[in-house]
Parts: sequence; structure tokens; C-alpha cells
Amino acid sequence: MAKQMIETPLLDQLESGPWPSFVTGLKRLAKEKDMMVDLLGQLETSYRTRKGYWKGGTVGVFGYGGGVIPRFTELKDENDQPLFPDAAEFHTLRVQPPAGMHYTSDLLRWMCDVWDKYGSGLIAFHGQSGDIMFQGIKTENVQAAFDELNEHGFDLGGAGPALRTSMSCVGAARCEMSCYDEARALRTVINNNLDDMHRPALPYKFKFKFSGCPNDCVNAIQRSDMATIGTWRDNIQVNEGLVQEWVAKHGKTELVNQVINMCPTKAIRLVPKDQVAKGDGYSVAAVDAQDCMEIDNHNCVRCMHCLNVIPGGLLPGKDKGVTILVGGKGVLKIGATMGTVIIPFMKLESDEDFEKLNELARNILDFFAENALEHERTGEMIDRIGLVNFLEGIGLDVDPHMILEPRSNPYVRTDGWDEEVAKWNERKAAAKAG
Ligand code: HEM
Ligand code: SF4
Ligand code: SF4
Repeated sequence: MAKQMIETPLLDQLESGPWPSFVTGLKRLAKEKDMMVDLLGQLETSYRTRKGYWKGGTVGVFGYGGGVIPRFTELKDENDQPLFPDAAEFHTLRVQPPAGMHYTSDLLRWMCDVWDKYGSGLIAFHGQSGDIMFQGIKTENVQAAFDELNEHGFDLGGAGPALRTSMSCVGAARCEMSCYDEARALRTVINNNLDDMHRPALPYKFKFKFSGCPNDCVNAIQRSDMATIGTWRDNIQVNEGLVQEWVAKHGKTELVNQVINMCPTKAIRLVPKDQVAKGDGYSVAAVDAQDCMEIDNHNCVRCMHCLNVIPGGLLPGKDKGVTILVGGKGVLKIGATMGTVIIPFMKLESDEDFEKLNELARNILDFFAENALEHERTGEMIDRIGLVNFLEGIGLDVDPHMILEPRSNPYVRTDGWDEEVAKWNERKAAAKAG
């Protein structure tokens, strides 16, 4: 290190807690990189004055309108010279992860070497942006760093008012809860809309996220404009042996208290063997010589609780598919919103199914591009124009499954009931016929 380390009493405090601190990592990099010494200087100043000192600007690479987040320092002396010159430019390259998000250790080492050569050495993998964030590079090195990554097949991600890089959970690659091929869904939607990522022309950002089951490990429902969540429509699968192992280990009391009583819709019962319900729609596991656990699948809302508590003993059904929600996002204009269901269930297995998903995604993106105001996310647009208008705009029928709280909402409109029922039946019959 050529540069003398700067005193950082406030940042140092962040290292005193029980968890590993990012400050320790930054200090380690600062031993070799003057840029990181000055970055710590600017950060410490921010902690002292409680102000941010980065401003944007225009930095890019040939052929792209986005993907680089420019950061220039505003901490300057009376002669307009930066107080921390080595970190005066600290841009970020957003780079899309490989399909499926698996890496070899060689590839990871190579990425670190590239970033050591051109940038600060600081990399963040797959945050909520979904990108590999190569953080800290001067303007003059940006093109060369991108070229080297690009020659190895890596592409820039999204930034600004554009389609953003997607996230999917690890899903089918490793997780027994997975209900569809998350990686394929992600790549289908993103690869077909890359133009909207690389040439920002939308009213504001737009995110697709994909979770393989309702556990929603990537927070798709809260954090994406269109969330695709795996689910199933038949019965929860039972592995009786594993249920019994669980009960043997934890006891029946815990089964009652932690599983049965926790079901939000009271769909699970403990019943004596001779009183088990007959017919379709029930999943049954004998828990010991006397009693059975019985799940009434018609009342199950796929909350995942019982499946999570008894790993392997209970698993998603066999008739799998996805639920699609739109309009989730962080704060901004109307506060945080969760996604609203627009497709209660669709299969996602055949080429045609994936094409249908692709078309829906494109329709929603187009509708957003044409109807949202500047700086307005999908959720806010829907809030402003109304869900019914949005559904009409993208050509979807209203469906009773879209009611947010079917079991607790006391407001039921019965005017025109018979006509609506007739229309509903007609639509159902037409769907069945066609
Ligand atoms: C197999 C299970 C899980 C997987 C694969 C998973 C995966 C992830 C991923 C990829 C992120 C984003 C990380 C980032 O932004 O850098 C995340 C964030 C998060 N996860 Fe999980 N997660 C799992 C289970 C859980 C559980 C059980 C909880 C809570 C009890 C949880 C709570 C959170 C929270 C609070 C965040 C931070 C969200 C934010 O950025 O604000 N996760 N998880
Ligand atoms: S969302 Fe479901 S399928 Fe995906 S990793 Fe989480 S638990 Fe597994
Ligand atoms: S997954 Fe279904 S049966 Fe299990 S706890 Fe949730 S609602 Fe109840």
C-alpha cells in the first residue's frame, strides 16, 4: 500500500459487534488498493456528517445505454479538488450471473483477478438486484473491464429506468420444494426482453423474480413487478416413514402445537385411525399405532408451513404449476406493496407453457411502458388506474381467486348475481371446450 491508512473511528465501531463486518473487508482491500483507503475516508466522513456524497453522471460502454452505475464524489475542497482523490470515481458494473447461478471456483478466481486488475477488488454477488456487482472502478478502466468480462460470455445487467436483471431461487437445482424449472423461466423471460435492459426506455425500473414455491426465498412477491411463484393444485404428497420419524423424534405434542395448530386455515387434524376421512382431497399419514394426521387439501392455502416443519415428510403435490402476481415493490410513492394475484394457476412445463409466460411478461411490460407515469412502478400504476382496468388492458379475466382475504372479507356484492354466475359458467365451459 502506497497510501497511509486513514483514521476511521466511527467505522471501527461497526467491527465491534458479533457479526463479521463489511468494514473489515474494506480494510483488508485497503492494504493493497489506494482507492479503498480513500473510499474508507469518504465513508467515514459520511458517518460523521450523516450525509451522502456520491452523485451520478454518465458512464457507459459501447453499445449499451445502461448497466454501469456512475458514482462521482461531491466531497471537494475550496478549489474543487476531491478530498479523497483515489475514490473520486467509484462506478459499479452490473453483470448478469451465469444461467442457473452456479460457478466453478476457477471462474470465481478469474472474476476476482479481473476486478483486481481494473477495479477495487470489491465484488458483491447476487444481491436483490440479481447481478454480480463489480464495485469501484475509474471511468478510464470501465470499457476494458467490461470487454474482458464480455469476451468470457458475460453480459451487463440492468440499471436505471429499465428492465432489471432477474433473480430466481436455487429451486430445482437443489431444493425439494421446487415446483417448476425456475432457471428456464428466468432465462426465457429475460433473454426475450434484453433490449429493454440494455437500452433503458421504460417509465421506471421493472423486475421479474421467480420463486420455486410459496416459501418465496427471493422475496418475489414483495420485491418484483411480476412474481412467478411455484405451487400445486392436487394433494400434498406424504412420505409416511419420514413423518413417523419426525414424530418419534419430536413427539406428538409438538406435532399438535407446531404443525396442526399452526395451519392458518385449520386444514390439518389429528384423528383416530378408524375415523380418517374418505375420498379425494385428503393427505393422510399414520403418526403412530392410534392416530393419523389428515390434511384437507381443499382448505390448504399452500402456505408451506407444515411442509417446512416436517422436511421430506410432506412435499408439494404432483400437479405443479405457478401463480403469477404483479405490483410488488419497495417504498416510493404509495409505500411498500405486495404483489396481487393475476393468474391463480397455470402449468409451466411444456414449450407452449413457457411461451405463454413469455407472452404474458411481454404484455405486462408493454402495458407498463405505455401507461405508467414517469418514476411510477407497476404497483403504483395499478393503484392509480385500478386493477380491473389493468386486467382489461392485458386481456385477463377477473377471477374469484384474486380476492385478497376470502375468509375474512365481509363485503359481498350480490347485485346482478345470476347474470354474473351465468357469465362465469359460460367462460368455464368455453375454456373447457377450447
Ligand atoms: C432455503 C431457504 C432460503 C434461501 C435459498 C434464501 C435465499 C435468499 C436470498 C437469495 C436472499 C437475497 C440475498 C441478498 O439480497 O443479498 C435472501 C434474503 C433474505 N432472506 Fe432468505 N433464503 C432462505 C430462507 C430464508 C428464511 C427461512 C428467512 C427468514 C426466516 C429468510 C429471510 C431473508 C431475509 C430477511 C432476507 C433479506 C431481504 C432483503 O434484502 O431485505 N430467508 N434469502
Ligand atoms: S422458494 Fe421454495 S423452491 Fe425456491 S429455494 Fe425456496 S424453498 Fe426451495
Ligand atoms: S401448507 Fe396447507 S395444510 Fe400445510 S400448514 Fe399451510 S395451509 Fe395448512
